[in-house]
Amino acid sequence: MADKKAQLIIEGAAPVELPILTGTVGPDVIDVRSLTATGRFTFDPGFMSTASCESKITYIDGDNGILLHRGYPIEQLAEKSDYLETCYLLLNGELPTAEQKAQFVSTVKNHTMVHEQLKTFFNGFRRDAHPMAVMCGVVGALSAFYHDSLDINNPQHREISAIRLVAKMPTLAAMVYKYSMGQPMMYPRNDLTYAENFLHMMFNTPCEIKPISPVLANAMDKIFILHADHEQNASTSTVRLAGSSGANPFACIAAGIAALWGPAHGGANEAVLTMLDEIGDVSNIDKYIAKAKDKNDPFKLMGFGHRVYKNRDPRATVMKQTCDEVLKELGITNDPQLKLAMRLEEIALTDPYFIERSLYPNVDFYSGIILKAIGIPTSMFTVIFALARTVGWISHWKEMLSSPYKIGRPRQLYTGYESRDITKLEDRK
Ligand code: CMC
Repeated sequence: MADKKAQLIIEGAAPVELPILTGTVGPDVIDVRSLTATGRFTFDPGFMSTASCESKITYIDGDNGILLHRGYPIEQLAEKSDYLETCYLLLNGELPTAEQKAQFVSTVKNHTMVHEQLKTFFNGFRRDAHPMAVMCGVVGALSAFYHDSLDINNPQHREISAIRLVAKMPTLAAMVYKYSMGQPMMYPRNDLTYAENFLHMMFNTPCEIKPISPVLANAMDKIFILHADHEQNASTSTVRLAGSSGANPFACIAAGIAALWGPAHGGANEAVLTMLDEIGDVSNIDKYIAKAKDKNDPFKLMGFGHRVYKNRDPRATVMKQTCDEVLKELGITNDPQLKLAMRLEEIALTDPYFIERSLYPNVDFYSGIILKAIGIPTSMFTVIFALARTVGWISHWKEMLSSPYKIGRPRQLYTGYESRDITKLEDRK
């Protein structure tokens, strides 16, 4: 794996030889681990040039718009697989056989209910609390309920925690929504698929059980698949970092949820709709495009651009198609906000500013539109992202714990004061 070497020349010091590591695909990586022995560190805020771990789960080629889970292209998973099968793949490394799939689905379904006492946690939150605030709290609280599976050094405990998290996230997400609405919380139904069950718990009530539209359930399943994992993004890195200290899986996932909340990451799908509200009308688009281009204005076009995809976001292509199907199923053709979104998309795909900077619509641009059309309030969008990403987080957490690892502890370039003495209070100016 490391037959090539790089040489680092440091003025006034002996050259340092650094191994170059080669993955199965993707760029080579210079192994700087031995640098610390020279008393120096690398400096890379934002991790633009740093691989923080070795992983076999997901591969992204941002220049060519490629996303692979365990080697399978995301487009094929979205077309030929379903969310629980994708979960199995991420967690176990291979697609399941028919028998393994039936067993996995059944195991997940056996864990969809949450401890009845967990409901009481919700009462501590204001009903107008942001759903992500409630999610951080209740997912973290799961650690207080499942003591029987918190030994992170026990592979069976890790397995059962992973299943519990995948199984309970839709239940918790729907409970968060029902609490905010003041409606009774719905129990999961194990005769439904994962996506159907989520829509059932979200939109049905004890007095009215409506059938779930297959088109909407399919769209929901696609949203889950497309958000299932994305290698070492901010929230996944947060989960790995929290896990590297030996924290329990529920606490780690709560940390991931907190990191996902930000508008530059998972909060973007909510931010897209908020932005469309702010723009208000097609006639205001030019003004907002000018704001997005203005270096002195913090406004950015939400749902455009990506740290890694500098050509196209392959998830966005699938999502756009699903978006068209959902809008057709729901008969939404004349929605002013949708028209606004489509006009923005058109401008961004033709305006030199966006083309030169490779600012294409990302997955969140279309998923936000779909979720709104389905009737999910914007404040729930990031919760749905968290629900879907939980399997990615827990797969990375399991992968890290399955081989030797170190606590994550970055260093810093210190630019503060040198050592100085405290002066007496009366002498300070
Ligand atoms: N609107 C206007 N200009 C933009 C935008 C945008 N959405 N995104 C980047 N730029 C400009 C930026 O000002 C810079 O211009 P210049 O080269 O003239 O200084 C250039 O494009 C490069 O931007 P950057 O900030 O260096 O790029 P980054 O890789 O650090 O940021 C990003 C990536 C996703 C944080 C950013 O594009 C962004 O904030 N987009 C909007 C939020 C969003 O949609 N996020 C969801 C990402 S997809 C979900 C996920 O995977 O988490």
